[in-house]
Amino acid sequence: MPRPKRTPGQAHPFLKWAGGKTQLLPELIRRLPSGIATGEITTYVEPFIGGGALFFALHEHHTIGQSYLLDINCELILCYSVIQKDAEALIGQLEHLKSEYYTRDEEERKAFYYDIRDRFNRQLSEISFEGYNPDWITRAAWVIFLNRTCFNGLFRVNQKGGFNVPFGKYKNPDILNAENLRNVQTLLRNTSIRQGDFSSCRDVVDEKTFVYFDPPYRPLNEKTAVFTSYAKDGFDEDDQIRLADFFRELDAKGAKVMLSNSDPKNTDPEDCFFDDLYSGFTIERVPATRMINSNGAGRGAINELIITNYPVSKN
Ligand SMILES: C[S@@+](CC[C@H](N)C(=O)[O-])C[C@H]1O[C@@H](n2cnc3c(N)ncnc32)[C@H](O)[C@@H]1O
Repeated sequence: MPRPKRTPGQAHPFLKWAGGKTQLLPELIRRLPSGIATGEITTYVEPFIGGGALFFALHEHHTIGQSYLLDINCELILCYSVIQKDAEALIGQLEHLKSEYYTRDEEERKAFYYDIRDRFNRQLSEISFEGYNPDWITRAAWVIFLNRTCFNGLFRVNQKGGFNVPFGKYKNPDILNAENLRNVQTLLRNTSIRQGDFSSCRDVVDEKTFVYFDPPYRPLNEKTAVFTSYAKDGFDEDDQIRLADFFRELDAKGAKVMLSNSDPKNTDPEDCFFDDLYSGFTIERVPATRMINSNGAGRGAINELIITNYPVSKN
């Protein structure tokens, strides 16, 4: 996939994240509520922030007074917090990791990667995710380093919080983009960062707020029954239902709300799970290319859902 165009001076995602929305961005941007351009919307809330593709893209074109970013993933929130508070110290640590990495040949790079991975996993039992502390800076540097140098460039921890992705063998991984980290820090000045469940943003949402929900996808292939008790990322069908209830709650508060998800009709035209959950709202199906099957056999044109609680003008 070609790299997205970078605008100088603008902040961009600093991590490659599973389920990142870079590809869907044009469709999301076309459906932003008009209050963003007019200034009526003064607060942006993204409760499943991940790599933050829309958060960063939105701020390329618009100024919004205050943003709230949430995610359940402690490591991710740690990185956002470190960039917000200590970008220069983080850059210093990444500079060090980068020069250590680039002075080695491929075999030594691999050993260096596994050494950092081990240190990262060992630190998990000691690190406190409660309240900011200086250990976070080293840990954020490790997360970014591992994200850049691991196989497939995806930072993904297992159920126990361990990171077990193998070495990535990239020739020139982009371990440090100091300019972007500084731009991200500037953007995060008017931003509140919280670790927690999506519903914990309830207190900051009012009629001048735009909320974008990008939850873990409902799996496309398996039949609903199999997935009622288990889903990847611990987000099961009950969570999808809980989220739809929350969407209605924020709608009743007068907020503008947009949500993206997989379209179950890609694999089962009879599956009306989201059409039922979000009935009464604007439900659109937009084309996207991603893998249907985890083994890649089903790669091809499929639809994604974009649901809004306001009419979409697509200007
Ligand atoms: C599809 S990803 C978001 C991707 C993001 N839009 C991007 O562009 O990179 C979903 C995110 O939801 C987070 N998550 C999972 N369960 C959650 C919950 N109950 N509350 C808040 N975040 C949750 C995951 O950690 C993950 O970062």
